[in-house]
Order: sequence, then structure tokens, then C-alpha cells
Amino acid sequence: MAVTIKDIAKLANVSITTVSRVINNKSEGVSEETRNRILQLVKELGYQPNAIARGLVTKKTKTIGLIIPDISNPFFPDLARGVEDSAHIYGYNVFLCNTDDNLEKESEYINALKEKYVDGIIFTSSSIPKHEHIMELVKSGIPIVIMDRRVDSEDIYGVFLDNYEGGYIATKHLIDLGHKKIGCITGPLYTKSAKERLEGYKKALVENGMDVDERLIFEGDYKINSGIIGTEKLLGNNENITAIFACNDLMAYGAYKTIRSYGYKIPDDISIVGFDDIQLSQILEPQLTTIKQPAYDMGLTAARMLIKLVEGKKLKKKIINFKPQLIIRQSTKNIG
Ligand code: RIB
Repeated sequence: MAVTIKDIAKLANVSITTVSRVINNKSEGVSEETRNRILQLVKELGYQPNAIARGLVTKKTKTIGLIIPDISNPFFPDLARGVEDSAHIYGYNVFLCNTDDNLEKESEYINALKEKYVDGIIFTSSSIPKHEHIMELVKSGIPIVIMDRRVDSEDIYGVFLDNYEGGYIATKHLIDLGHKKIGCITGPLYTKSAKERLEGYKKALVENGMDVDERLIFEGDYKINSGIIGTEKLLGNNENITAIFACNDLMAYGAYKTIRSYGYKIPDDISIVGFDDIQLSQILEPQLTTIKQPAYDMGLTAARMLIKLVEGKKLKKKIINFKPQLIIRQSTKNIG
């Protein structure tokens, strides 16, 4: 049977309130002798405060939920690291939930986090286009911050990247290197991030007097295999492409594999630009030119925003947009 705060109070011959104040380091007015007696009993009996019981009283559990779509993609652990570091600074624990881009799992996790009385939730929604369940959660009054994958609503707080700008500068870099036939392997096009990166690609082409050729665009799903298959399609349609913009690094890795299996060299025959700048990209051979997302800082910012909402503080801005950065390495070559 677990030792309760009531047992400690009885043995120390003090009130439950006195024990609670000593345990929570708010023991002004409690004699040194009483304080030491209580702490000694807590240690000897191995008393563990009951977080749920405390939560029922204070209506706070000092925990936040973090829901992400794909823990196997290194981008998300970078994001989660920022959330966890920031939450820790403010004394909050984080419950991490991985949905595998599955809407049903996403809804199950939302319910599980509500049952655990988390104080708020940070959400990178799955690629699934439906977000009604998120809007219901927002309306339920639980503090929510949407991170990375934009959900269109006036009612949300969010931390995002300017994906349109990211797609544009990736493609502009290739155009400036003299590439005229540039393939694009997109993310799942029902996500805003994937759509905006593709629009940025198209804008750079049109701005430089180049046609948008749908045969050079392949819809991927942000996973390595869609980079493999997308590159097979782009190489197989005899459009003689000299460059590929892959809308995340994992699909760029898939492109590397296919390009090499066709006997081509990177960047001598085909230049590659990725998106995210996950850690592997700088040790790949050749190192990947990519668009950096400040994932760690986005996570830090989202957690800071959520905790301010949980603690009833006013936020100056509901939406914070981070800027993408072109990181030029060795996978792109000038053919001008
Ligand atoms: O690599 C996974 C992609 O999905 C990233 O570009 C990130 O934006 C996430 O939404």
C-alpha cells in the first residue's frame, strides 16, 4: 500500500497542509525541527507525491502532451528535443505521442492526454487533410499550439516555417547554377507545407522564364521510398533532368540511391537539393545541399508559447513564422 501524505502527517503529528508545504519547499513558519522530522519520514517511508491527486486539487499536472506524426523521421526528434528542453526549464514534463500519420491514432492520443489531465498540447498534425478533431480540441478550451504543419484557422496558436520561401530559394539556387530541367519530388500535397514548397518551386521557374512541366513533378510522402520511386519516374520519362529538388531530406536520400543505381553521379550528372537539414545530411557523400528548418528552435518556441497559455499569460502573437535558410554543400553543381 503506497504511503500517503495523511500517513506522514499523522506520524509527524502535524497537519496535511504542513507536510504539503514542506514537500513543496514552501515551509516558511515551520520549525527546523518539524521540517527535518517530516523530511526524515518522507525518506524512510519512501513517500511519492501523487501527481494525479495533486492535479485534481490544483487543476494542474505540470505536464504537456506532444503529438508528432513520424518519430522515425529525424526531423521530429529535433523538434521534440526543443520542446522537452524548454518544458524542463519551466518545470513541465512532456508526454510524447507518435501517430504514424494515422488519424485514428491521433484521436486516441488526444483522448489519452485529456484523461491524463495534461495542461496543454503541442501538435504536429499528421499529413491527413482532416483537422476537425484538432478544431474540436481547440474549442474544448485545452491550450493548444500547432507546430510545423499549418492548420488554417483564426483560432489557433502556431509555430511554422515559411515553406513557400523555402521551396523558392531551393529552386532559385539550382536555376542560378544553370539548371533548366529541374524535377521536384513533393511531400503529401494535402499538407500545407508540401503544397507551399511546390508553389515556391513553380514561382522560381516562372520568374526565370521557365515553364512548369507537370511531368517533372512527382508527389511523394516525405519517406525515403517515395524519393526512390519519384526519381525513377523522373529519370524514366527521358526529360534529361539535370537537377532534383526533393522536398525533404529523406526523399533526397532516396534520390541518391536511384541516381547511383542508374549509374549517374551526384552532382556531376544530377544535382540534388533537400529540405529540413537533418543531421545525416552533412555527413552524406556528397554532403547534401538543403533548406534548413530550425527545428530545435521551433520546438523551444512552441513549448514557451504553450506554457504561457497554460499559465494564463497574454501572447503578443498567435502565429510565429521561422525563415528557411539555404545550406549549400556538395550535392549541387554549376552547369551554366
Ligand atoms: O521531413 C518531414 C517533413 O514533414 C518536414 O519537412 C517537416 O516540415 C514535416 O512537416
